[in-house]
Amino acid sequence: MRPLRAGVIGLGVGEQHVLGYRAAGVEVVALCDTNPEKRATASRTHPGCRIAESADELLAADDIDVVSIASYDHHHAAQVVRAITGGKHVFSEKPLCMNEAELGAIRDALDRNPGVRLSTNTILRMSERFRDVHDRVRAGELGQLYCVEADYNYGRLHKVLTGWRGDILDYSVMLGGGIHMIDLLIWMVDSPVIEVSAVGNKVCSAGAAFQTPDMVMAWLRFDDGTIGKVAANFGCVYPHFHKIALYGTEGTFENGIGGGVLIRSRDPQETPQSITSAYPGTAKGDLIPGFIEAILGKGKAAVEEADVFRTMSACIAIDKSLRTGKPEVVATY
Ligand SMILES: NC(=O)c1ccc[n+]([C@@H]2O[C@H](COP(=O)([O-])OP(=O)(O)OC[C@H]3O[C@@H](n4cnc5c(N)ncnc54)[C@H](O)[C@@H]3O)[C@@H](O)[C@H]2O)c1
Repeated sequence: MRPLRAGVIGLGVGEQHVLGYRAAGVEVVALCDTNPEKRATASRTHPGCRIAESADELLAADDIDVVSIASYDHHHAAQVVRAITGGKHVFSEKPLCMNEAELGAIRDALDRNPGVRLSTNTILRMSERFRDVHDRVRAGELGQLYCVEADYNYGRLHKVLTGWRGDILDYSVMLGGGIHMIDLLIWMVDSPVIEVSAVGNKVCSAGAAFQTPDMVMAWLRFDDGTIGKVAANFGCVYPHFHKIALYGTEGTFENGIGGGVLIRSRDPQETPQSITSAYPGTAKGDLIPGFIEAILGKGKAAVEEADVFRTMSACIAIDKSLRTGKPEVVATY
């Protein structure tokens, strides 16, 4: 079998995907961006790569085995389905798609092409600090988790006020950012979210082109009885940060702006244990080598297809609850 070859669509964070493939020993043969300036830069910085103007050109190529989709959120679904239908493995940026109909279409495409592998870039699973905490949770150091909380404090209001996010009429802060926290919580709890209820507002971006709430908060019910809360806070006066609290019967973990701590006592005199492992401590292409190993049958991807669907389905149910004003059941795929 010849070595795998990759193509990358979208050269913002997609440039980090290129590094991920190279780290995995995969040759990147084609790049694509609709922006001519990006293409001109890419032809200088990636000599030897074909530089395509349209995603269709790259997706039709028969010398590409795995494709990264790092275009704008509302372009993902069509590109993902086209890639799967063409028998290409897909590493998609989050969110995989924007709504239930698109997620169903991707499920159908995978069912028709069972040899295709799919993963997505919910990169916090590669964070050294969260891996450390995940290991501790699995080893029982926190006892039984019963309540989990996570805030995606975006801290980049300018990206909402100007730029492509404001051009997407149904842009979702939960799909666009909160998704990282939902994926992290599902991974920590090791049980899917089955029911959600959400509220939101639009104070920080009032008057901007951006149409949808910039602040969304939801409660979550997990299948194993754990409950949780997640927030996608795009307008906060806060540096970009992933705030989490995991409450277990034997201990609590918090990732706060002051650092990570493990609390094992109700005694106010006891000093919490600092968790000093690197946070976030990741590059955006770090999930790719593991995904390539999984394609080659040599291991398990850190984010498997089932993980992608569980996380996406929970986010979509949250967006639905925002619209209906009622709790919503999370669909299974
Ligand atoms: N996993 C993460 O942590 C993470 C971080 C940043 C961005 N993202 C995701 O990556 C995607 C891109 O975001 P970004 O920050 O790189 O944006 P960006 O604006 O920096 O870059 C996106 C690039 O894609 C190109 N593009 C857009 N649609 C295209 C299409 N249909 N075909 C070809 N090229 C296209 C644009 O011209 C642009 O150069 C988004 O979906 C975003 O949510 C994920």
